[in-house]
Amino acid sequence: MEGISLAKGATGTTVLPMNALQRIGILTGGGDAPGLNAVIRAAVKATILHHGWEVFGVHHGFDGFLDETGESVEALTYASVRGLLHRGGTILGTSTRGNPFEYPMPTPDGGTQVVDISDRLVDRIQALGLDALIVIGGDGTMRIASRLAALGIKIVGVPKTIDNDLMATDRTFGFHTAVGTAVEAIDRLHTTGESHDRVMILEVMGRNAGWIALHSGIAGGTDAILIPEIPYRVESVAEKLERRRARGSRFATIVIAEGARPFEGEQSVVTTARLGALPRLGGAATRFARELFEVYDVETRVTVLGHVQRGGTPDPTDRLLATRFGTEAVKLLAEGRWGHMVALAGTEITAVPLADIAGERLIDPDRSQLVATARAIGIT
Ligand code: F6P
Repeated sequence: MEGISLAKGATGTTVLPMNALQRIGILTGGGDAPGLNAVIRAAVKATILHHGWEVFGVHHGFDGFLDETGESVEALTYASVRGLLHRGGTILGTSTRGNPFEYPMPTPDGGTQVVDISDRLVDRIQALGLDALIVIGGDGTMRIASRLAALGIKIVGVPKTIDNDLMATDRTFGFHTAVGTAVEAIDRLHTTGESHDRVMILEVMGRNAGWIALHSGIAGGTDAILIPEIPYRVESVAEKLERRRARGSRFATIVIAEGARPFEGEQSVVTTARLGALPRLGGAATRFARELFEVYDVETRVTVLGHVQRGGTPDPTDRLLATRFGTEAVKLLAEGRWGHMVALAGTEITAVPLADIAGERLIDPDRSQLVATARAIGIT
């Protein structure tokens, strides 16, 4: 049997199989999402109960490895994960910046340059004695994981994002909770909008994908859903409102994704892309309200749901998915199937090669049954 030599004694050499692990690390990267702690809890419990490996939590995503003091790495025990299932956020902290392959470093003249510090990271992982990593994150984190895997790090990914826009999985945890939060907001806007005969516009997150808007718009019964994948014409929305008015309803609810844009227009951004950071979207609802007012006499109010969608307790569906993902990630490591991300295919948990996860999973307006459903019930 091929293996690594552990210790030589009177009885000979103790040999572990090549895949044997003794110490693994776990980290969370990118924006947080409800369910991160539930994955950590599941992975730690499954590891301790069934494999006996030591588990270490790495704080602040990949940035945690750059802290030479060792304070960013913490042993996780059964006690560390007690009471975590329902807790929002991540006990490990996270970062949306630390891409080791494109790391922004200050230059002597006060500027910033992007450098590849991945070799430092690999050395650090080895110095910490971590045989394998579980990384929980979105597309950015999975891209980094894939490149680290190519450098020989034994790594398994767990897909997270409220945006639900990760390739190769039908669902990411955090999405279901975010949709629930958005639907609750729509329900609340509905009653106040109705009282005042106003058009209530809710801006939801999702970056370039309209999943949160589409799901919450249908479930919340909005009159229009504006998603990035279908550039909007404000006149179409005005016509819809006029038809409602003709039927006696002077109020309406509209959900707009932060990444939505007018036909022949651009996305609304707060800050453009900077070194190592994506552009920050924002302002879509306010812009749309202004455009609507220019073509239709109506009183509007805008609500930007923002990070309320990311914070707080995961709902039961996300707790379940996070727990399934966490235990499956440990199983993949035990089977030596590193270089994979756990995924949901239909109702089954599967594994997909990290190398195959490229690009964003967006709504295909021509093939989406949900878009057809929305249109079938008259949603613009
Ligand atoms: O990707 C998750 C997400 O919440 C997006 O929907 C949103 O555009 C972005 O992150 C917000 O990022 P930040 O937390 O940096 O403001």
